[in-house]
Amino acid sequence: KLPDIVNEPMLHYAPGSTERRLLQEALQEIRSQAPYEVPIVIDGEEIKTGHIEEQRVACDHQVVLCRYHNATDPKLVTRAIDGALRAKEAWEAMPVYDRTAIMLRAADLLATKYRYKVMAATMLGQGKNAWQAEIDAAAEACDFLRFNCKFAQEVYAHQPAANTPGTWNHVEYRPLEGFVFAVSPFNFTAIAANLCGAPALMGNVVVWKPSPAATLSNYFIYEILVEAGLPAGVIQFVPGPAAEMAQQVFAHPDFAALHFTGSTHVFKGLWKTIAQNIDSYRSYPRIVGETGGKNFHLIHNSAPVRSTALQTIRAAFEYQGQKCSACSRCYVPASRWPEFKTHLLAEHAKITVGDVNDFSHFMTAVINQVAFDKIKGFIEHARSASDCEIIAGGTYDDSKGYFIQPTVIVTTNPHTKTMVEEIFGPVVTIYVYPDAEWQSTIQMINETGTYGLTGAVFANDRQAVVYATNKLRNTAGNFYINDKCTGAVVGQQSFGGARNSGTNDKAGSSNLLYRFVSPRSVKETF
Ligand code: ALA
Repeated sequence: KLPDIVNEPMLHYAPGSTERRLLQEALQEIRSQAPYEVPIVIDGEEIKTGHIEEQRVACDHQVVLCRYHNATDPKLVTRAIDGALRAKEAWEAMPVYDRTAIMLRAADLLATKYRYKVMAATMLGQGKNAWQAEIDAAAEACDFLRFNCKFAQEVYAHQPAANTPGTWNHVEYRPLEGFVFAVSPFNFTAIAANLCGAPALMGNVVVWKPSPAATLSNYFIYEILVEAGLPAGVIQFVPGPAAEMAQQVFAHPDFAALHFTGSTHVFKGLWKTIAQNIDSYRSYPRIVGETGGKNFHLIHNSAPVRSTALQTIRAAFEYQGQKCSACSRCYVPASRWPEFKTHLLAEHAKITVGDVNDFSHFMTAVINQVAFDKIKGFIEHARSASDCEIIAGGTYDDSKGYFIQPTVIVTTNPHTKTMVEEIFGPVVTIYVYPDAEWQSTIQMINETGTYGLTGAVFANDRQAVVYATNKLRNTAGNFYINDKCTGAVVGQQSFGGARNSGTNDKAGSSNLLYRFVSPRSVKETF
């Protein structure tokens, strides 16, 4: 039996608290050490190619946070794959008890010894404020590592229901035959830990390509796994050029699975490359991906408007909107719009945007110039579109960091660009619908765009809740009733969407772990 698995208790960083002081010291330490030099690590060996790329501080882009060695030489990728395949035999032979112990120990190291270090790297590198970093790099990362151990037990315990006399049937959950390629995003350090940690827990070996914009925090996670006892070669830490690496990895006959979180566009590109190579693989590869979203809040005229407005602000602007689950379209009934708008603007007026070192800010910078320019493009489109009006925010400044003010757009066209396309930034668009068109609005939500990640309905009227819940069945893999559409907690709400939002294999559940095993049914006759 495992130790009790509970969500990592969250710290609050109140002024004067010990945790606040320790986090400030960690920030100071990281700033004084920067730029860090981050190697590639293959078979436990640090490799310095000299092909250097930089990760910069999102709130102060003159500052280089780390200089990392990039695997531009294809021979390194080959070496990583070969080494992982060599490590595989001993790793998969290791009892799950031991693999579990490594993950639990890694979680404890992260929760205690390295909490502030990983958080500080996440804050500076990925532009998160203290609470966002606490939720992501401390709590959620620990939760993934620990709860996966519990989910793994569920997988292994899932055995045949019957035996005939004189026989014993059982299922052996074998690791995949080959290696897993994990490609992680910048926006959650926890997701990176899960993308490499979950397949490894199930006995797989992993070639991990971290996001260039999250290199330092991801390297620290890697170091923690090693300190916890992860054998050399089980996870290969390989920053490198994504497209070239993918071409090479997907050409390998032992490629067994892709574990991906990132954009829909990139995921589809990877899937196509895998398809082109299908004849060369030993097994059909598992393709597991969590991609984009165009998540909605739907407000019924029976909803408590004030709290709903606050939830909308949080879902749209926390994490600078750089969450695949962030609310970016909102449907408000005309009868409640004046009241909703008043509360929304009042909450909006409280938001400050600034540097992560100042703990008072609700929002910080978006990740980099590419993101800044893309989000700016959406704002400018809305400014010039005849069917849109920017009622709050709409300004930005990248002179020091990539700062964008939280932006609220109101549109008369429910199919306008910002209602349909993923923005991945602090921009929400509101469509005010006639109260009488509640049902057709729901149909429109269901048919708008191509995503299916998260959504929320707010209503006191139970009939309205039931109607929306049923009609929006395929519109959101994570559906919330009277709560914001963000903030799934590992162990409480498994996470993932369908349609163009991903393969819906539900991070934070045994469903995900099943994708990284290949069951063998064994019948023994006595
Ligand atoms: N799992 C994160 C959320 O639910 C992305 O907001």
